[in-house]
Amino acid sequence: MNNFEFQNPTKLIFGKGQIGTLANEIPANSRVLMLYGGGSIKKNGIYDQVKEALKGFTHFEFGGIPANPEYEVLMKALAVIKAEKIDYMLAVGGGSVIDGVKFLASAALYNGDTPWDILKNKIRTFEGLPFGTVLTLPATGSEMNSGSVITRAETKEKLGMGGPGLFPKFSILDPEVIKSIPKRQIANGVVDAFNHVLEQYITYPVNANLQDRISESILQTLVEVGPVVYEDPTNYEAGANFMWSCTMALNGLIQKGVPTDWAVHAMGHELTALYGIDHARTLAIIGPNHYQYNFEKKKEKLAQYGERVWGLTGTLEEKAKAAIDKTVDFFHSMEVKTNLSAYTDSFDGTAQEIKERFIKRNWVGIGEHKDITPDDVEKIVELSY
Ligand code: NZQ
Ligand code: ZN
Repeated sequence: MNNFEFQNPTKLIFGKGQIGTLANEIPANSRVLMLYGGGSIKKNGIYDQVKEALKGFTHFEFGGIPANPEYEVLMKALAVIKAEKIDYMLAVGGGSVIDGVKFLASAALYNGDTPWDILKNKIRTFEGLPFGTVLTLPATGSEMNSGSVITRAETKEKLGMGGPGLFPKFSILDPEVIKSIPKRQIANGVVDAFNHVLEQYITYPVNANLQDRISESILQTLVEVGPVVYEDPTNYEAGANFMWSCTMALNGLIQKGVPTDWAVHAMGHELTALYGIDHARTLAIIGPNHYQYNFEKKKEKLAQYGERVWGLTGTLEEKAKAAIDKTVDFFHSMEVKTNLSAYTDSFDGTAQEIKERFIKRNWVGIGEHKDITPDDVEKIVELSY
């Protein structure tokens, strides 16, 4: 096992009817900005619950943060933060709203020329404007981590940022919010969380027995409850397990003391930036091909995953190979397609373009061995057509 430090300061409040407790978590006399997405919260009752809880606070609203939170829109929210002297934010939404709020938490205290530099120059955030979240869509784990991914439509870029100043102060996870989530987004949530575990687990063995078994148990739980929630989002018990699995998949715990990959996300973000494909679906397109392409380097963990999560038997190679097939079947079982050509007709040249973008950014060695070159990226993306 590798050396590690672990600190996660986010307070989680989990369960039915917990949204109303948010007033206890926000310091008295705060000037609060509540931020949300395209309006789903106005149809499912979450907006009313939050407004009721915020009654005692001076508060303002900013709605309209789109999926894949857009820089230009967030700059408008930044203007509200400055004009109204906001000192606390409340994100009410899925990964996009929460990530948008993390960007704002950093940008509000940033003194440089333009906040885009935080993303472009990978500036870490050690102190941000404080914020809490009400999670409406289990998927990304953003509610309990310090990462964020922001999109700029103008330049078709999607870049990550982060730092210890960007953990939410608190997050409220009420599984009842799942009832109103469309099937497509449930499938996205399951597939995103599944891939988060794979990115931190399908690498090479380092005798991290506990991390491996926690990872395997998250995968097994997603396999168990994912299809149930997909068929019936009103199933509270399955929904609660789904929600907790998504948070645990990316709150920092399972990556401690182990190598991590994240090449699938790096390539996937480009597909969202270029074609607007839902984040989780880009991982379903790239992931299996990435594991196939890097089979020799990853086969021990692939075989362990196949044996422990899917109950496969046979030689190491047989189990490892069949594990990739099982993964693809699982994504298909939730109607998530695994080829780029299923999402866009204009995929010709995509691999070359992504390769060039990686070279331009000097991303010349990614993955757990830092040895996946732009040429490898081109080949993996090509396999994904
Ligand atoms: O905008 P509204 O109207 O609210 O509708 C949203 C949106 O259209 C809808 N929705 C959310 N909760 C709902 C609901 N509809 C009905 N009932 C509810 N309770 O779902 C749609 C998608 O929401 P979004 O927030 O975009 O989805 P998700 O949570 O999958 O977030 C995706 C974003 O997170 C980033 C992705 O790159 C992408 O930009 N990620 C963030 C990570 C992180 N911070 O750690 C890690 C991930 O790997 C990922 O990169
Ligand atoms: Zn993801």
